[in-house]
Amino acid sequence: MQTVPLTTKHAHQVAALHIQGINRGFISSLGMNFVTSLYEAIAQSSCSFGFAVEERGRLLGYVAFTNNLNKLYKSVVVRKGWRFALLLAGKLFSFSKLKRVLETLLYPARIKKKSTPAAELLSIVIGSESRGTGLATQLVRRSFEHCRALGLDKVRVLVAAENAPANKLYQKCGFTLAGQIENHGVASNIYEASTAEPAAGTIVEEVALRLHPPVKKESYSPKRQLNRVA
Ligand SMILES: CC(C)(COP(=O)(O)OP(=O)(O)OC[C@H]1O[C@@H](n2cnc3c(N)ncnc32)[C@H](O)[C@@H]1OP(=O)(O)O)[C@@H](O)C(=O)NCCC(=O)NCCS
Repeated sequence: MQTVPLTTKHAHQVAALHIQGINRGFISSLGMNFVTSLYEAIAQSSCSFGFAVEERGRLLGYVAFTNNLNKLYKSVVVRKGWRFALLLAGKLFSFSKLKRVLETLLYPARIKKKSTPAAELLSIVIGSESRGTGLATQLVRRSFEHCRALGLDKVRVLVAAENAPANKLYQKCGFTLAGQIENHGVASNIYEASTAEPAAGTIVEEVALRLHPPVKKESYSPKRQLNRVA
C-alpha cells in the first residue's frame, strides 16, 4: 500500500469513489464523465492538490485540497469550461438543478464572508471495505505536511452536520467548529484546522493506545462467577 500525489491517471477511480462515497451530493448527480473531468482539472491545477492511497493499482481512498477556492474555480473554468458546459448541457433541464449549479458557483463568495482560511479540504473518500483502519487520518496528516511545505498554515472544510464519521474524522485531525452554513439545503458544519505539526507526545500516545488498548475492568457479577465455576 502506498500514498502518492493525485494525478490525472487517478481521475476515473477517484470519480467512482466520490460517486459511491458522497452519493447524495450534487456533484455526484452530474455523472461519471463530469466528475472524472473535475478531478482531472483538480489534479492539473496549480491551485489544488491531493493524495491517493493505492494497493496494486487499486485506489483505496483519496483526498483533494485547494490552496484557494476562488483561483481554482477560475482555473477550472479556463481549462475545462467548454467541456463542462457540453457535459452539463443535457443534465440541467430542471429548475432545481440549475439552482444548485448557481449555488455551487456562488459558494466561494458565500464562504469568503465567513472569514475562514482560503485553503480547503474539498473531498475525502475511503472505499467502504477499507474504512475504519486509519487511512483517512493518514491522508489528512500527509496533506497537512504538504500544506506546511506550501506555506498554508490553516485550512477549512465543510461537511454535512449529519455525516457522523466525517465530523469525527475532522475533529480527530484537529479541526474545530468555526460556524455553520446551509449548502444545497443541507445544514453543514464549517471546520478550521491549523496545519502545524501535532506535539510529538500526541502521536506517541496514540500509537501506544492502538498497540496496547486499555483492558476493560470486568464488573463483578455473581451470575458470571457462578457460570465460571460451572
Ligand atoms: C469519513 C471517512 C473518509 C472516514 O474514513 P476512515 O478511513 O474510515 O477514517 P479513519 O479510520 O481514519 O477514522 C478516523 C476517525 O473517524 C471516526 N470514524 C470513522 N468511521 C466512523 C464511523 N463509521 N462512525 C463513527 N466514527 C467514525 C473515528 O472516531 C476515527 O477515530 P478513531 O480511529 O480514533 O476511532 C469515510 O467514512 C468515508 O469515506 N465516508 C464517505 C465519504 C464522506 O462522507 N466523506 C466526507 C465528506 S467529503
